Amino acid sequence: MKQNILITGGAGFIGSHVVRLFVKSYPNKRIYNLDKLTYAGNLENLKDIQNEANYTFIKGDICNSQLVMSLFEKYHIDTVIHLAAESHVDRSIINPMDFIQTNIVGTVTLLNAAKHYWKDAYEGKLFYHISTDEVYGSLGETGYFTETTPYDPRSPYSASKASSDHLVRAYYHTYKLPIIISNCSNNYGPYQFPEKLIPLMINNIKNMKPLPVYGKGENVRDWLYVEDHAQAIQLLFEKGKIGETYNIGGENEWRNIDLVRKLCQLMDKKLNRPAGSSEQLITFVKDRAGHDLRYAIDCSKIKNELGWKQSVNFEQGLELTVDWYLQNEQWLNNVITGEYESYYEKQYILR
Ligand code: NAD
Ligand code: TYD
Repeated sequence: MKQNILITGGAGFIGSHVVRLFVKSYPNKRIYNLDKLTYAGNLENLKDIQNEANYTFIKGDICNSQLVMSLFEKYHIDTVIHLAAESHVDRSIINPMDFIQTNIVGTVTLLNAAKHYWKDAYEGKLFYHISTDEVYGSLGETGYFTETTPYDPRSPYSASKASSDHLVRAYYHTYKLPIIISNCSNNYGPYQFPEKLIPLMINNIKNMKPLPVYGKGENVRDWLYVEDHAQAIQLLFEKGKIGETYNIGGENEWRNIDLVRKLCQLMDKKLNRPAGSSEQLITFVKDRAGHDLRYAIDCSKIKNELGWKQSVNFEQGLELTVDWYLQNEQWLNNVITGEYESYYEKQYILR
């Protein structure tokens, strides 16, 4: 059982790490990657495994009910690992509708297909929904999000993810669809699109461009290395309890300004620049609207019940990440042309 696995959003940042891990871990299972290839999806992320016998890529939209239904039928899908989403808060502030469509309507389209094709024969089936800690809202200076923290989303992105989580849970309670949900903190690592904080700063430091820190840089995020998230997803696929929610986090909180300074120091060394030169690029810019102050995850449930733990500390993870971006100049140059340039202008130059 759990032989034919549909991974959505597998050409994106986290999805590509999950697809790679599953393709390599399970030569006897079939992995189907359904991705629309929006600006954030990139088949370059999966070049190393694209010809593996147990892997198939399908370009398509999770909101396309006919397509999704046909995939269930053709490939006898018994597992969904759902990562496809519009994922960037700043873009959700500019244009919420794409988030409503993909994150909410797309999730329900997948739920309906699973319900339809599994027809109450739920043994050996799994609908695993990947979500974010942002659904819990914003913390003050103390405290942590647990699996029972009430939802309090505050951006169009987090509200759309919260809505999708509620719908997934509703299909469990109403139809007994076998679901698992995990809510994770901020990921970082190779293949992340340079609209998010860490790769954006790496790219700008490399090109000696201003480093736009929102507000005073005092907002706090909990950072997790992406491969550790992928490992947690694999563990929940294998051992997670149906109907349960699991929080996944880095236990690694950083104020944005401290993180950017740390990156500057690391990159000065890597690029043989005089110490302190990149820090001079730091520029405080207008704050994000409704900017959540702090996210911090209590991940003791997945640690205690299933034995998951982070495998790298932040120094190691950041160095792996910076090295990857410096060694993959072509990947970076390909994604920062075209759509990225017009987004960057709208987000950072014209406002
Ligand atoms: P990403 O933006 O890098 O990738 C999203 C992928 O989904 C892209 O490949 C894109 O082409 C695809 N996609 C978008 N709309 C689609 C549609 N309508 N149909 C099919 N494919 C579509 O995102 P990510 O950072 O890899 O995040 C993956 C998931 O993990 C998301 O659900 C996100 O909410 C969640 N998450 C992300 C983080 C993080 O720090 N990045 C943290 C916690 C949870
Ligand atoms: P981001 O990577 O967009 O993740 P999220 O908002 O989902 O947590 O941003 C991480 C933090 O960095 C957040 O507090 C906003 C801040 N930030 C900046 O200060 N400057 C930037 O250019 C970006 C993209 C983010």
